[in-house]
Amino acid sequence: VTILFNLGEMATATESLDEATFEVLGEELGYKIQMVSPEDEDKELLEGFGLDLEKELAAESEEDLEIRPPVVTVMGHVDHGKTRLLDAIRQTNVIAGEAGGITQHIGAYQVWTEHEEIERAITFIDTPGHEAFTAMRARGAQVTDLAILVVAADDGIMPQTVEALNHAQAANVPIVVAVNKVDKPDANPAKVRQQLTEYGLVAEEYGGDVMFVDVSARQGTGIQELLDAVLLVADAGLDLTANPNKSARGVAIEAKLDKGRGSVATVLIQSGTLRIGDSIVAGTAFGRVRAMLDENGDAVEEAPPSRPVQVQGLNSVPRAGDVFIVTEEDRMARQIAEKREAVQRNALLAKARKRISLEDFTRA
Ligand code: GTP
Ligand code: MG
Repeated sequence: VTILFNLGEMATATESLDEATFEVLGEELGYKIQMVSPEDEDKELLEGFGLDLEKELAAESEEDLEIRPPVVTVMGHVDHGKTRLLDAIRQTNVIAGEAGGITQHIGAYQVWTEHEEIERAITFIDTPGHEAFTAMRARGAQVTDLAILVVAADDGIMPQTVEALNHAQAANVPIVVAVNKVDKPDANPAKVRQQLTEYGLVAEEYGGDVMFVDVSARQGTGIQELLDAVLLVADAGLDLTANPNKSARGVAIEAKLDKGRGSVATVLIQSGTLRIGDSIVAGTAFGRVRAMLDENGDAVEEAPPSRPVQVQGLNSVPRAGDVFIVTEEDRMARQIAEKREAVQRNALLAKARKRISLEDFTRA
């Protein structure tokens, strides 16, 4: 407090300080201050339980790895047709064979499609805009392998189109462009291609390496070509493998509190296989997998890599982007969740304390 006072900074002993102030203070006291991010802190917490996710992945041997479906996010400007396109894609689902049937919204779904005479699955994440994408990335969860950038052919590039492609590029996620609404009389798909050139997305037909596919989500045209493009890009440059034969890890895509079913979380499995009865922890939520539902509302017993499922059994609602892990014992899941909660509580307390001490200060 004295040193800070001499530096012209009024602070009490229990107050939170910003990073720069801490560094100066450390220097004055002859210490080197090291800042620990919340992510690092959580990593340490997990390591305390013998869980080192990165090390585990690095230790995975080639022969444990199996091909998994690509995970695709649909992004684009408001009203350019993301939701409609996702609906159109869902209706081409060749295996479920229930086009037009009742599909529950679970925030993510898998479709099967025939590609070069082989039936292949693709996982789609139905994020409401790219806020969720950004939120997930902010929490260190890279969920998407590939992004479909939807651009309405009558509207062209709009601010959120640029934002979306910036996010995808920052995340190093390859982009396939869906030029939508080509059924409209004023559609100008060539203009979209030309506009995107300025942002480094050059169409193959213009000598670039980005696949553009003209689609009409309304009429359902171009959808198969779009799915083919996704699989071509996935097969050409992405290493889409995971070990299905271990306990599961993944990310919560969305979650809510349901009146009858309690906490319901849509999770995407990233490696391992999730099973009924598994103990899991996602952020500060923990519990046992009581039931799992697929996008059709059908109960499933297990979920392999890239599979999105709705999970029931958590004691509270995780946030979008929270990483989940399966623990060997119920106790460990509970302990991790409780420690995280304590960390969050302390951070909140520190903030509250700061406010109070500032008020005290102004009153004095
Ligand atoms: P937000 O979620 O609000 O960002 O919008 P969105 O991108 O999900 O767009 P949405 O799918 O809701 O479509 C917006 C409007 O465009 C709706 O009225 C759709 O019916 C219409 N629309 C979507 N695709 C097409 C298309 O291929 N052709 C035509 N003519 N209209 C389309
Ligand atoms: Mg929408």
